[in-house]
Amino acid sequence: MPSVDDIRTALARVIDPELRASIVELGMVRSIDAHENGVVDVTVSLTTPGCPIRNHFQTSVVKEAKTVEGVTHVNVTFDVLSDTEKQGLQQKLGRSGGLPSGALAQVANVICVGSGKGGVGKSSVTANLAAALTAEGKKVGVLDADVWGYSIPRMFGLGGQRPPVSATRKILPLEAGGVKVMSIGFFVEEDSAVVWRGPMLHKALTQFLEDVDWGELDYLLVDLPPGTGDVSMTLAQLLPQAQFLIVTTPQATAQKVARRAAEMATKVNLEIGGIVENMSGFATPTGERYAIFGEGGGQELADELDVPLFGKVPLTMPLREQADAGVPLVATDPDDPAAQAIRSVARGIIAITPTQPIALQMAPEEPAATLPIVESKPKPKGMSLPMA
Ligand SMILES: Nc1ncnc2c1ncn2[C@@H]1O[C@H](COP(=O)(O)OP(=O)(O)O)[C@@H](O)[C@H]1O
Ligand SMILES: [Mg+2]
Repeated sequence: MPSVDDIRTALARVIDPELRASIVELGMVRSIDAHENGVVDVTVSLTTPGCPIRNHFQTSVVKEAKTVEGVTHVNVTFDVLSDTEKQGLQQKLGRSGGLPSGALAQVANVICVGSGKGGVGKSSVTANLAAALTAEGKKVGVLDADVWGYSIPRMFGLGGQRPPVSATRKILPLEAGGVKVMSIGFFVEEDSAVVWRGPMLHKALTQFLEDVDWGELDYLLVDLPPGTGDVSMTLAQLLPQAQFLIVTTPQATAQKVARRAAEMATKVNLEIGGIVENMSGFATPTGERYAIFGEGGGQELADELDVPLFGKVPLTMPLREQADAGVPLVATDPDDPAAQAIRSVARGIIAITPTQPIALQMAPEEPAATLPIVESKPKPKGMSLPMA
């Protein structure tokens, strides 16, 4: 029979992404029953019945419990903490100083921009989408999580700069054109290779979410590295409410690769928000269009995944030139065909996303004042990003 203690130890690795602490430590594991045939029943108590991170708990509890010897099957059930228990949780969070940083408490939407492979224009789309959402009057942040191939600082003309640190030991994002920008690129020598992996990578990404003062944002766009590796998995774990926006080209082979990214997203329970097709033909300055990479890949992928195709962005020279010049094209020439397409993507996204901060969506029936996620205190914790 599997040991209940071992299962509890394993479940300590399941983190509540909002409260940023282990569900065991938070007292959210109501019961663990192990049976002789290796079947384990776990009851997890949520702070609110409609908890949107339920799926995350479901998956993580099964995964962690299964690492224990003898466990063959895990049943997860949910109940809700009583008011007294919630108060206890709140006190515990306050007393231990383990309050959530609240860094994302005022962020309404997190959108991870991903692709199966590099070079499809993920960063270009991210930077221009940020500019387009800003132009629509939204508050926008960009987190460059492409730790190996960061290009966001340069696209915003912020190369070689270093973000300041506030009195409360929070890292302040740099700003360009009204967009708050944070990148690993700010912390390493330009053009040097970043060799972080595993735990260090996890730590750095966690800090980008916890120790960065993002403030109030309608959208936090996360530029993911290509593929389905560590970074995407870690972020999915830290940001279970995030939507996944997939960038692909019209080419059938690219679409196949993008589908893998979609499968990864589904596996880690990230919701796929939609598709952007980039490099959909080359638009000449006179308006002629050449289908350099073929046609239809974005629509096909969208149909297959049953999600919207937010737009088809043509190749235009100014888009590339502006990326190199450090100001997104949408900000300098909103009428360029590529800029127009990205602005329409922005409007599509606005149309389907809520504008309330995630923290408030979490427990709409509770007054905000009692939500630990809202009343955050800065953590008296050191930073270990490589800040020279
Ligand atoms: N629609 C486009 N029109 C012109 N150039 C583009 C377009 N999309 C991307 N590019 C260029 O293609 C290259 C790769 O784009 P990038 O955004 O860095 O891709 P990724 O982030 O997916 O690796 C860059 O040089 C970029 O300027
Ligand atoms: Mg990139």
